Amino acid sequence: MAVAVSGGSAIRKMFEQGIELKKKYGENNVFDFSLGNPDLAPPAAVKAALLKIANDADKPFAVGYMPNAGYPATREALAALVSKEQQVQTPAANIIATVGAAGGLNVLFHAILSAGDEVVVPSPYFVEYGFYVGNHGGVLKPVPTNRRDFSLDLEAIDGAIGPKTRAVLVNTPNNPTGQIYPAEDLAALGRTLERRSAEFGRTIYLVSDEPYRQLNYTGEPIPPIFPAYAHSVVVGSFSKTLSLAGERIGYLAANPAIDGVETLMGGLILSNRTLGFVNAPAIGQKILQSAAEEGIDVEVYRRRRDALAAAFTNAGLEFFLPKGAFYFFVPSPVADETKFVEALLDERILAVGGSGFGLPGFLRFAFCVEDRVIAGATEGIARAVAAVRRTEAKA
Ligand SMILES: Cc1ncc(COP(=O)(O)O)c(C=O)c1O
Repeated sequence: MAVAVSGGSAIRKMFEQGIELKKKYGENNVFDFSLGNPDLAPPAAVKAALLKIANDADKPFAVGYMPNAGYPATREALAALVSKEQQVQTPAANIIATVGAAGGLNVLFHAILSAGDEVVVPSPYFVEYGFYVGNHGGVLKPVPTNRRDFSLDLEAIDGAIGPKTRAVLVNTPNNPTGQIYPAEDLAALGRTLERRSAEFGRTIYLVSDEPYRQLNYTGEPIPPIFPAYAHSVVVGSFSKTLSLAGERIGYLAANPAIDGVETLMGGLILSNRTLGFVNAPAIGQKILQSAAEEGIDVEVYRRRRDALAAAFTNAGLEFFLPKGAFYFFVPSPVADETKFVEALLDERILAVGGSGFGLPGFLRFAFCVEDRVIAGATEGIARAVAAVRRTEAKA
């Protein structure tokens, strides 16, 4: 087999341990924060769209072949959404409907990477990126963030860029940290990329992976990437914002300011066609024609975030309060994160070690879980923290 099956298995391992624990102790006695699987029902607009699709399903070509980049009406709906979010008028010609953000990133890397090209990513990062880049001959180059709030370390990113760099990949709001990058940092990153592209005589793309864009607790709009840098591409998804993770529907949007953007779009559409996807799912695309700008009730996730923050404070942990997405990335109270993972497991609480995201010494807790899971885990978290601190003090 050509792929390494062991990579990125930390979340999977926790998932399997969770199944075992639930069998043994019962579903309600296990507190599983390991998976980012959105548990809220899709908004009413999704059901309404599906009913309409069902009503039309007896017509010819109801779910027939379509242009590889997607239904024109879907691309128009996405162009309207992207134009608002990115604050740059973006035509439908610059949009492709993709098989989730995962499919979008693969299409993009297939189109822009040559063998040995590097993609710089601030760490911690969504571990699947290593596969998405490696699938197309590229090399992922993580750059430690070195900041308590996980904001962009612009000097470190600058230092990591070299003659082989083809792209810098950011993810905002971020999995696993919950950070949202401010406009000043994106603008500064854009200036760095302009300078470095000129120095090396090759375009370095700025790729923004934004599947959590609507999960924003700041009350302010999420700063857009397009005004920050001409050679930028956004990858989006409806897995989280419409709770449609299994349908695999997302998009790629290319900044109209990219030099030769038509050629890039041609390459992206060819990649989408030839990688095996051919086009994004028809039903998902049709849902977006009326529901692209809808979303789940973010207040539910905010309430859970605040409840889990209170549980960590109660346990004596210091942490960064996520501004977006649905994860906490909490410093382990002892240097060896695996000891904290084990102590939590003794309390039937599941969270994933930071090593699974390229930054040991932390744990990721996903708060797309029912309120009762957070309430049920609160005392257990405090006991686990006290237990590892006691053991360390004795050693
Ligand atoms: C940061 C990040 N990027 C991409 C994805 C993939 O999203 P999709 O379900 O749209 O493929 C995820 C999924 O969890 C994610 O967390």
